[in-house]
Amino acid sequence: MERVLIKNTAEYLNKNVKVCGWINNCRSHGKVLFVDLRDKSGILQTVFAGNDKDLYEKALSLRPEWVVCLEGTIKERPKGMQNPKIETGKVEMEVEKMEVLSKAETLPFGIDTDGYEINEEKRLEYRYLDLRRKRLKKNLIGRNEIIYFIREYLKKEDFIEIQTPLLSKSTPEGARDYLVPSRVHPGKFFALPQSPQQYKQLLMVAGIEKYFQIAPCFRDEAARADRSPGEFYQLDMEMAFVEQEDVLRITENLLIALVKKLFPAKKIKQIPFPRITHKTAMEKYKTDKPDLRNNPEKNNSQPCGASHDELAFCWIVDFPLFQEQTKDDFFHGAGQKLAPSHHMFTAPKKEDIKLLDKDPLKVRSCQYDLVLNGVEIGGGSIRIHDFEIQEKIFDLIGFTKKEKEYFSHLLTAFKYGVPPHGGIAPGLDRLIRILLGENNIREVIAFPLSGDTRDLMMDAPAEVEKKQLDELSIEIKKSKK
Ligand code: AMO
Repeated sequence: MERVLIKNTAEYLNKNVKVCGWINNCRSHGKVLFVDLRDKSGILQTVFAGNDKDLYEKALSLRPEWVVCLEGTIKERPKGMQNPKIETGKVEMEVEKMEVLSKAETLPFGIDTDGYEINEEKRLEYRYLDLRRKRLKKNLIGRNEIIYFIREYLKKEDFIEIQTPLLSKSTPEGARDYLVPSRVHPGKFFALPQSPQQYKQLLMVAGIEKYFQIAPCFRDEAARADRSPGEFYQLDMEMAFVEQEDVLRITENLLIALVKKLFPAKKIKQIPFPRITHKTAMEKYKTDKPDLRNNPEKNNSQPCGASHDELAFCWIVDFPLFQEQTKDDFFHGAGQKLAPSHHMFTAPKKEDIKLLDKDPLKVRSCQYDLVLNGVEIGGGSIRIHDFEIQEKIFDLIGFTKKEKEYFSHLLTAFKYGVPPHGGIAPGLDRLIRILLGENNIREVIAFPLSGDTRDLMMDAPAEVEKKQLDELSIEIKKSKK
């Protein structure tokens, strides 16, 4: 017999069906045993009435989270026993046949609550159980809906999704790289991309014109509520023959359409999204991530509280091209006074190019950030496509000849006909967490690393065999204890 999903069982009144899933709970009422069965689609009340003694006895041994397959007749529940809150609340199954597919030990924590009250390390250690929780399943489904919508929307807008390499060379975005040693080339390393920045620019040289990717990005930086300590996803986009206005419009239209379709109850505070210069933002709000909601939840420890249906987007534009380097900056050319405010491929505003030599900190750039409810959910820029200006920026941030060579592929590519181009990369985890009303991005990631950058479930990072290290020509320094 073919399996029926639980949410569809009500369509099979007085028919014999087979359902499979996990035991949600068992309740014994005298000679009747009620067993709630859960699958990905819902919960069904099943009844073992005792007329088949063997089956009834067998069912008494059932425990929560066992995986079973039940066959029986779908019946209307007696009046007064119906539960209007669930899809299958009017029916129940009179079980005639049961097969136990696997047994389960008592779970390390309950999965019937939203789980916020449970120690997070424990939840991450048993993430596959934590994900059985309704809230987290809903988040994964919500994430899928959002990504699916984005893919469809951008395809209609003529974008091509292209996967770029993960084993790559360092992309300086300001964080430390994750390095991957090469076995074939001892002493050499790949870097996992901090973003596909250089690849997407090279795709513009390749004539792709409209690129996007749901791109994994890797940055070795400290975790925060809105920052993954290891990897996160961007909706990475790049377009040729565009100006700032075009990038802002396309991104804005996509987000408005997404909210309207998937989150109709949410209200976007202002359309078009307000645009605020960096200077004004700093003067008026003392931050470049102002929270423009009517009722920002000030008492909340996180910048964006859950439980709120207001979405206050805004663009921050006209960033300075450079900022003074702080000791926390970590990028190539470190030790110099100037650091790029976004990244070193961001174009200066045409009218400010003349200030590059005289007063570089006054130069404004074609960088724009997208802010939602006080959180930076995206950043991008119009890029430099002039070989000489790119070299000049490298000089100003103090690149040595050797460091410049590091980008020779990009400079070479720019010699072969490069269209003006620009793009943006909304941080998907941040956007999704706000849309789903969560306070921490880990709640919308299936298998997140812990705050101290460990996979508590797989126990990674982990030591490796000496043989593996030998093959990589790597020796581990003995730690001083
Ligand atoms: P940027 O470094 O500003 O730009 O990153 C773009 C967006 O990615 C999100 N983000 C993160 N999300 C979760 N965890 C993190 N650790 C994290 N770091 C960044 C933020 C941020 O706004 N290549 C450029 C984009 C471009 O110029 O097109 C880039 O990566 O929402």
